[in-house]
Amino acid sequence: MAAPDLPAAPPSPASRAFAAWQLPVLEPAEFHALGPSHGHVLGPEQARYLLSFSLLAPSSHNTVPQAYELDCGGDRIAIYLRRQLVLPESDPDGREALASVGCAIENLALAAEQYGISCRWQARPELGWGDVTPSPSDGETCLGELLLASAPLPEQTQRADKLRAMLERRSVRAEFDSARQLPDAVRSALTRALEPPIRLSSFESAQDKFAWAKLDELAMKHKLEEEPFRRELGEWLLPNEDGDRPRGMRGREFGFDDRVTRELSARLRGEAPMPVDQLASLARAGRIGLCSASAICVLSCADASPASAIVSGRVFQRCALAVAAEGFVCAVHTAVCHVPHARAMSQATLMKSLPPHLIFRLGVPLHARDGQRPHSARPELTELLTTSVSGR
Ligand SMILES: Cc1cc2nc3c(=O)[nH]c(=O)nc-3n(C[C@H](O)[C@H](O)[C@H](O)COP(=O)(O)O)c2cc1C
Repeated sequence: MAAPDLPAAPPSPASRAFAAWQLPVLEPAEFHALGPSHGHVLGPEQARYLLSFSLLAPSSHNTVPQAYELDCGGDRIAIYLRRQLVLPESDPDGREALASVGCAIENLALAAEQYGISCRWQARPELGWGDVTPSPSDGETCLGELLLASAPLPEQTQRADKLRAMLERRSVRAEFDSARQLPDAVRSALTRALEPPIRLSSFESAQDKFAWAKLDELAMKHKLEEEPFRRELGEWLLPNEDGDRPRGMRGREFGFDDRVTRELSARLRGEAPMPVDQLASLARAGRIGLCSASAICVLSCADASPASAIVSGRVFQRCALAVAAEGFVCAVHTAVCHVPHARAMSQATLMKSLPPHLIFRLGVPLHARDGQRPHSARPELTELLTTSVSGR
């Protein structure tokens, strides 16, 4: 969704739901002063600091579906998926939730690396799709763990830039400057961000971008015609004035003013009549954004396992952070991945038979203020910790 012609959004309210973005960037000496305890790689206070970066990662509808557990020895962090936060209508198989947790894992590993801690991800070997589908009652599914080890400290400027990129990142669902070509530095950053088995296809011609925009419109129209999907989207689209709820998306993150947000959310939930042409224009709204992008990037993988869905999230977040250094931002457009006929058409044409797993556009906002829209909310870290971390 996008509304390019609306007035600039108001600043973010001072509230605990937005406090996560105020995290200070510690010097290595300050980080080391937080712990560690007795020869362990990571102390509990250090873990909490690094996990605060993980919390800033993007997630589908801003569900923030992950939970963390630090083992007593301080050399591994287990990562869980909260199945009650997997979206039944937008994400019935849990793929978006896994990609979201992948983003959170990437932020955690990147933050740890800046303080001389390497992280090796080990997915739970027997993890299956049946473990990650939406479930109102099931608690937390263990997805795997990060194994921690001491490593050399990276160079100082690079370290501060990487940590700041996580603090400054946000999804930018606005029109981009279509005259901006993808610079070679961004192309190389994307290539460096890749990791097997994930592949990246990049589309830069006007013709290909238009083709993706048409497929996105087709897929969005299909989804918006489903009443349960609309209701779910409306429930996660929160009023701009809501300063408290720690999950969900405020309209201003899409460029919507207060009135438009309230009306649209009520109409999506079925609590107010939806004007005849509004669904069609909502479906079409992604077109301006997609066509204005410097590139549309598609992550794919022949292996359709849950483990590779997590890696695709890691790769996406690595791309989003790497391109930030060149002033580029991202917006995700997942509808094509979820609608079988749109996905099949993309596979048969643009993707040359590879299945699209995560679609995002890259570019520079046409209006600089759109790149500075208020951040989305986050829950407090303690809510995401299992007892072995929160109990200290
Ligand atoms: C796996 C995944 C799928 C997403 N799909 C969409 C999407 O289809 N449309 C959209 O506007 N944003 C999408 N997003 C962006 C999220 O809505 C966004 O990350 C979340 O609201 C938090 O905002 P932030 O990224 O600005 O912190 C997606 C993000 C992730 C990680």
